[in-house]
Amino acid sequence: MFDLKGKTALVTGSTQGIGFEIARTLAAHGARVFVHGARDMAKCKSASEKIAGSTPVTADLCAPDCAEVLFAKTGEVDILVLNASIQYKKAWDEYTAEEFDSQIGCNLRASYLLMKKYAEGMKKRGFGRIVTLGSCNQYNQHPELSLYAATKAAQYKLVKNIAPALAPFGVTVNNIAPGAIATPRNAEIYEDGERRAAVEEKIPAGRFGTPTDIAPAVLLLCSEEGAYITGSEIVIDGGLSLK
Ligand SMILES: NC(=O)c1ccc[n+]([C@@H]2O[C@H](COP(=O)([O-])OP(=O)(O)OC[C@H]3O[C@@H](n4cnc5c(N)ncnc54)[C@H](OP(=O)(O)O)[C@@H]3O)[C@@H](O)[C@H]2O)c1
Repeated sequence: MFDLKGKTALVTGSTQGIGFEIARTLAAHGARVFVHGARDMAKCKSASEKIAGSTPVTADLCAPDCAEVLFAKTGEVDILVLNASIQYKKAWDEYTAEEFDSQIGCNLRASYLLMKKYAEGMKKRGFGRIVTLGSCNQYNQHPELSLYAATKAAQYKLVKNIAPALAPFGVTVNNIAPGAIATPRNAEIYEDGERRAAVEEKIPAGRFGTPTDIAPAVLLLCSEEGAYITGSEIVIDGGLSLK
């Protein structure tokens, strides 16, 4: 089960955190993996060195030509995991135009452009797996995540609309919605006992999730065994969104 030998995978934003664990898991199941980061090739290489057989690639997903740039470096892939994102925590009326553009650019426009670019080849080959990383903030309200939440909700709407268009070609499109996961992004909260306890109090499972709570679900969606799952979402949040 879950054999990805012969498959090529691109995991965006896999220099650390959830993306790194997804890349590691797909590689451990036989996929040839591209580890991707924004601009820092040394950081990307160092992550890639921890995943045998992987290849490091960088491309800033805020750039309007990101899909062309990245495709020129990877060529066709069978599995596309859209994991990279930017999150600025601010009150809804405090975002600068630049912060607005970069969040929309990386979290939404890049997802659309990359799906469009890589899906063509997947359709021709009759096999493809696209997984987006959303967030339980698609559903929950948070005073400092209005714009981030909007990008994730919009990305999920793309998934729901693109999935039926690609299903006849053996290409599935699904979303994973994590809750609070311990990654470098929220290390400041996670490593502060008091702030961490305040978050954990809201999680029915009583703890932060880890990247290893997320990666197995992505593996299922990317495998042959996941062929009949499309347009779906797996919420992985220890019950956070139920409260
Ligand atoms: N952690 C959570 O609690 C949580 C909860 C819900 C949803 N999520 C979602 O899960 C995904 C992974 O989260 P995470 O916490 O593991 O993230 P993270 O630790 O902040 O890592 C972000 C990754 O995205 C890449 N990235 C950032 N800006 C980029 C850009 N402009 N162009 C290309 N790549 C860029 C980073 O590359 P560099 O290293 O090169 O900068 C890094 O590899 C994200 O989509 C996030 O929104 C996370």
